[in-house]
Amino acid sequence: MTKDRVLDFLWSHADESISGEELAARLDLSRTAVWKAVEQLRNEGYLIESAPRRGYRLLSKSDVLSEAGIRKYLNCPELRLRCFAEIGSTNTALKELANRGEAAGLALVAGRQTAGRGRMGRSFFSPEDSGVYLSLLLRPSLPASEATAITACAAVAVAETLEELSGRKAEIKWVNDLLMAGKKVCGILTEASLDCENGQLSYAVVGIGVNALEPAGGFPEELRDIAGAVFPERSLPELRCRLAAGILDRLWRYCGGAELQDCFEGYRDRSLVLGQEVELLSPGREPERALVLDLERDYSLRVRLANGEERKVLSGEVRVRLEKN
Ligand code: BTN
Repeated sequence: MTKDRVLDFLWSHADESISGEELAARLDLSRTAVWKAVEQLRNEGYLIESAPRRGYRLLSKSDVLSEAGIRKYLNCPELRLRCFAEIGSTNTALKELANRGEAAGLALVAGRQTAGRGRMGRSFFSPEDSGVYLSLLLRPSLPASEATAITACAAVAVAETLEELSGRKAEIKWVNDLLMAGKKVCGILTEASLDCENGQLSYAVVGIGVNALEPAGGFPEELRDIAGAVFPERSLPELRCRLAAGILDRLWRYCGGAELQDCFEGYRDRSLVLGQEVELLSPGREPERALVLDLERDYSLRVRLANGEERKVLSGEVRVRLEKN
């Protein structure tokens, strides 16, 4: 459709001015067809400036994380969405709702977090306009001891979405980090509440933060060497809405039923740590060097320590750091 071609072109030159004449020539359209397409796009909510002699300019802030924008790409109509330009933490807000009895299938999506949280009490850098921060409420029938499988399924859901939209390979650093070209592009924080009567989860909140684009001004100094963006530039229209929809669709498909789907192969195939020398980092203990021998079906790692001892390592106990070559 003409409108979509105009939109694609403007997105690949977001925040730049392009004359109507150039646009028409590049897309082999008449000036009137371009003008009509721009009007249609404006009616759909795209922020397109126009100025005499300079031409059209699509503002990148048009990529608003809105319910309507996400639903355009979402295949699961039963999911409930609440979108925020800014929130403290989508996980914290959703846990409050879950504790008050909210049903499974509610997703909170934010364009910025002021108190984003990561694993092990760390904060998660969540600037505006460049990331997608979302949490989904699940109520699976699952023993608490198997909760790591939710994070693993979420990692596969994100990896598949990032690969589909960017054409780049995503790798999973056990247990909850996604990397592209060696840089962390996504973190996952699964928080759950236990029903002590039966040892099952009463709910799980899966929180996912994706660095879709480089933040304006770049990543802060302390993250510069380790963090990266999925897309080198704003190449697709409604990038963040597509990302949110793709992730939520898959996450709901893999974890939204009474039983989780088996994502083991998808996880194992993308695992960065298999066969690698790593450092095991447990709070209050000296780091230990180990070789990762295998990934077990429960998503624990089988490792061999320097003294030859073999051990099973659970995600709640340790973090791994890949040895630098
Ligand atoms: C990590 O890298 O340690 C996990 C980061 C998880 C970040 C996401 S962003 C959406 C959700 N809300 C939060 O406060 N944290 C998670």
